[in-house]
Amino acid sequence: MAALGVDAVWLSPFYPSPQVDGGYDISDFCGVDPLLGTLADLDALLVRAHELGLRVVVDLVPNHTSSAHPWFVEALAAAPGSPERDRYIFRDEPTDWVSVFGGSAWTQVPDEPMESGERSDRQPLRRAGQWYLNLFDSAQPDLNWASPRVRADYDDVLRFWLDRGVDGFRIDVGHGLVKDLTFPSFPGSPLDSGSKQRAPYWDQEGVHDLHRRWRSLSDSYSPPARMLCGEVNVSVDRAVRYVRPDELHQVFNWPFLMTPWDAVALRAVVDTSISAYGGVGAAPTWVFGNHDMLRMATRFGYPAGQAPRRVGPRSPQPDEALGLRRARAAALLMLALPGSAYVYQGDELGLGEHTTLADADRQDPAFARTAGEDLGRDGCRVPLPWEADAPNLGFGAGRPWLPQPEAYAALARDRQRADPTSVLTLYTEALRLRRSLDLGSGELAWLSEPAATVLAFDRGSVRVTANIGDADVELPPDAEVLLSSDPDAGRHVPPDTTVWWR
Ligand code: NOJ
Repeated sequence: MAALGVDAVWLSPFYPSPQVDGGYDISDFCGVDPLLGTLADLDALLVRAHELGLRVVVDLVPNHTSSAHPWFVEALAAAPGSPERDRYIFRDEPTDWVSVFGGSAWTQVPDEPMESGERSDRQPLRRAGQWYLNLFDSAQPDLNWASPRVRADYDDVLRFWLDRGVDGFRIDVGHGLVKDLTFPSFPGSPLDSGSKQRAPYWDQEGVHDLHRRWRSLSDSYSPPARMLCGEVNVSVDRAVRYVRPDELHQVFNWPFLMTPWDAVALRAVVDTSISAYGGVGAAPTWVFGNHDMLRMATRFGYPAGQAPRRVGPRSPQPDEALGLRRARAAALLMLALPGSAYVYQGDELGLGEHTTLADADRQDPAFARTAGEDLGRDGCRVPLPWEADAPNLGFGAGRPWLPQPEAYAALARDRQRADPTSVLTLYTEALRLRRSLDLGSGELAWLSEPAATVLAFDRGSVRVTANIGDADVELPPDAEVLLSSDPDAGRHVPPDTTVWWR
């Protein structure tokens, strides 16, 4: 990481977990899953990262626990209406809400024995159990953030990690957490952002109190400065409300992540983001990939706007060479923008999605809950190739939890480090220049373009030309090329190429 030149590392959940949802089903918020190591290992990782000048951000998952968490085990053992059940969202009847992973968002608990006084000869000895809300898998019951006890207990979770020296938190489902407890009908998909009615469990006003609470708690640990970044999957105009001065520092820029490889659309989202985030005094963020989305090198291998949401062996396959070429150009476009850029592990190697995973290997709960209609996110979560000739491509001993595609060997880190034309070298060089030229801050000034399919802008002393069209572009004869996503192209900018020059 330090050799790559990033400033910080975000670790996805490493806490004790039954691993139903890639660790996002947590049974102990203050530990390390034995599958991955120990708390002492984590402490050592923090020390080493800090020695190398890297900050470490850990994942905070406050929307739900695992059903194996002691709080939920206690809730099930306790009676309806008890303080233990009040930590979660229990009801006698389900509503029409739908889970993000498919199916109903409600799960019924086993029948409950009746109190002896309640029984009569004409009544059964057991009554149907209550239902609990799970916006994700049934193994991930949603916490009740209206409960002061949940708020107070969760403060201790933040303190635990801040005391250990983490530099910040990525907040999972940061636009969720608070639900409308009048339970209005909402049969629509939780993933349908185009719906006119706001889902009663996303982007509720009360969620901002939580972010303010966590901001003031984490600020009390400064120095060193701690940061909060929210997974806030809402439109830009709503997202900026989460980064007001007393809330989160950053949110992931979902609209940017969802933008196809199209110059007009990209320019529009860059403009909207810079002006909207600037309006509240926050830095915009830029992100082309994460562990929930189709990898960028695969997404860009389809005609703009036509990439499927998920790709499996029976789907139309991407044009891999085109996807990789565009992914290289997209990386230089993103790393030239002012604000913070987030790189998903493996994108710096140019990895594509594992697009031919066998159904039997799939682990994402969304695959099972939708009977395979949603292929799930396993294809972007395959273990990274470190060493081309080592067992499991150097990922470690034992069978990895997902098989690596054959194509990954040629993209192994050890091969790429030695290759001046590799994707890894491109990222390393771009990050080095981004730091030395201070491209993360400052203004962006658009230049008049030869065509609407070319994005051209100044970032201080650096000029950026991204050719997203089909015709070649030539730079002036006196242009000094600092970095090109096409190492052979020089002052010539072929289609799907980005050049930094002056
Ligand atoms: C968002 C995470 O990024 C995703 O991987 C997870 O499944 C859900 N939140 C539920 O925690």
